[in-house]
Amino acid sequence: MHPTILGIEGTAWNLSAGIVTKKKILAEATATYRPKTGGIHPREAAQHHAAHIASVISKAIDSAGDVHIDGIAFSQGPGMGPCLRTVATAARALSLSLDLPLIGVNHCVAHIEVGRWQCHVEDPVTLYVSGANSQVIAYRNGRYRIFGETLDIGIGNALDKFARHAGFSHPGGPRIESEALDAKKYIPLPYVVKGMDFSFSGLTTAAKEALNKYSLADVCFSLQETAFAMIVEVTERAVAHTEKSDVLLAGGVGANMRLREMLATMCKDRGARFHVPEKRFMGDNGVMIAYTGLLMLESSEPLEIEDSMVMPDYRPDQVEVTWRSLT
Ligand code: ATP
Ligand code: FE2
Repeated sequence: MHPTILGIEGTAWNLSAGIVTKKKILAEATATYRPKTGGIHPREAAQHHAAHIASVISKAIDSAGDVHIDGIAFSQGPGMGPCLRTVATAARALSLSLDLPLIGVNHCVAHIEVGRWQCHVEDPVTLYVSGANSQVIAYRNGRYRIFGETLDIGIGNALDKFARHAGFSHPGGPRIESEALDAKKYIPLPYVVKGMDFSFSGLTTAAKEALNKYSLADVCFSLQETAFAMIVEVTERAVAHTEKSDVLLAGGVGANMRLREMLATMCKDRGARFHVPEKRFMGDNGVMIAYTGLLMLESSEPLEIEDSMVMPDYRPDQVEVTWRSLT
């Protein structure tokens, strides 16, 4: 019998609990922190999570009906320290009081695993693009290796910074996407790819400055075109290098239709398949933590409490992938 796992996610603004078996999602409950002004304040987000975590977990357990839970998984990192600590404290308390194994999940790996599960794809190159993270990742020999990543801020944070400057509310990505639809022309902006890595802060600054000279729609469009072309280029080179035939999109920025279109074109040109999970599995969610926790519990030892400290800079390549064959 496969176990039933409760997973808790709360690395940034979304607090979410999911309950899954190997085949099914039994429940999911979420509470989202929305800053009144500006971007995410880590301390305020953590206070939000502390205030809602009991109700989010109870809601998930109640809606799962009559189930026996076999393990407690939580996002151990990467993410904002105060948020991670709030979630980890709840997970430890549940594990101790219910006498259940505790499983520390890498948040980036969870994005990949939920995508593999939902899209039925075995071995993709994953483009993980969210607020804080931007990485091109592929499995090789027991680890998820990072083939390319941002040298400064995540692409979502870059879009949100620009959006704040333009007077949009947080998160800014969706508004930039809709403004871009009215664009008339492309304005050249700094395209920064270094080896397999990329950088967004110079691009963001240049886009902000361009607002003094060009229309909002043209700048939004040009910012998207430039930033997306950079990450699609690196994804393409990772596909060429690894010779894999599938590309998986993960993270909240993956909601963007223009990004999807550019990736789909690249995949078609290379003869690769392109996979996009349902939107609810692309942003941060408790289901991905529960599902990855399940894979981990079935293939490795659970965490000891003394090893359960949070890791704000936890990288996917630090995780030994015990649930996949060594290839
Ligand atoms: P992580 O902890 O993984 O960094 P996160 O807290 O940033 O996650 P996500 O839901 O994965 O959360 O991503 C949020 C980001 O996605 C925000 O920066 C937001 O602007 C961006 N985003 C959402 N929708 C769109 C869109 N349609 N186009 C571009 N960006 C988008
Ligand atoms: Fe995420």
